[in-house]
Amino acid sequence: MSSTILAIESSCDETSAAIIRDGKVLNNVIATQKIHEQYGGVVPELASRAHQQHIVPVVQQALQQANIIPKDLSAVAFTRGPGLLGALLVGVSFAKSLAYGLGIPLIEVNHMQAHILALFIDNPRPKFPFICLTVSGGHTQLVLVKDYLKMEVIGETQDDAVGEAFDKTAKILGLPYPGGPLIDKYAAQGNPTAFPFPEVAMEGLNFSFSGIKTSFLYFIQKNVQKNPNFIQENLADICASMQQTLVTMLLQKLKRAAKEYKINQIAIAGGVAANSGLRKTLTEVAQKQQWEVYIPAFHYCTDNAGMIAMAAHYKYLAGEFCDQTVSPLPRLHI
Ligand code: KG4
Ligand code: ZN
Repeated sequence: MSSTILAIESSCDETSAAIIRDGKVLNNVIATQKIHEQYGGVVPELASRAHQQHIVPVVQQALQQANIIPKDLSAVAFTRGPGLLGALLVGVSFAKSLAYGLGIPLIEVNHMQAHILALFIDNPRPKFPFICLTVSGGHTQLVLVKDYLKMEVIGETQDDAVGEAFDKTAKILGLPYPGGPLIDKYAAQGNPTAFPFPEVAMEGLNFSFSGIKTSFLYFIQKNVQKNPNFIQENLADICASMQQTLVTMLLQKLKRAAKEYKINQIAIAGGVAANSGLRKTLTEVAQKQQWEVYIPAFHYCTDNAGMIAMAAHYKYLAGEFCDQTVSPLPRLHI
């Protein structure tokens, strides 16, 4: 049975639409909201307003690029959560209205499941079961992926997400939001062993990033007091050292999970999976551990509707539709 699905993502600060036909993602249109840069983080009300402005042009562009009209669609999919309520509401309401008008099924997608299913957009694809380290601005999770729609969280952060740790590090250094990509850029020119930051170890497979964030703040304050130009003079080394510490904390738990579950199919997903330090170190560790590693293309790591479309495809095949009474769930779990 042939299918053409429109997928919409609006959980945070990217308005995105994608078309998937018979399991192949045809496009992935993304409107990034630059407005948040000046505030040092996503401002929920401004995000909702920007989604309102972007959603129709973004969907129109996705349909045009794929050379289809609305009546060619078999279903409309949307991110139900987790995410910001006002941001999710825009995508959910739009998807419901469109599906209602066209008389076609609606598919709700879990944003965190979709980050993982981005691994199935391109080849090679992981084999089940595999372990995925999902690292984003709001989440840090180790997930045992048993099948496309059967996932179990086996470890997660008890406080901040690792993306938040990257963004807060950048903010302390006076860099704009989102700081993760900038830390990555400066780290490429720095020495990762220049400043040893203490890694905070949690029990079992859980993570904690709030301690390292606080000790980083004190470290910067202390050094800037001694030398007001400390940050400018050492930016690359500071970024490289902090990035390396965060990556080491992530990989320690990933190694532990792989050992405990005796699984050598390993993947990463989510915005922080775009980090070049993480991608490089993971590839090195994989060689030593004899893991087969899977990493989505850069543009499918950060928020995008291509991954929502991929998840929607599997839900369509499984006949998992929702009705018109559906509403967003900002704290939706896997
Ligand atoms: O998955 P995502 O786009 O949105 C959420 O679902 O949260 O992840 C966004 C996070 C932000 O914290 C951003 O700074 C981080 O991913 N990020 C990076 C890089 N690119 C995005 N962190 C480190 N290095 C990068 N290259
Ligand atoms: Zn995300």
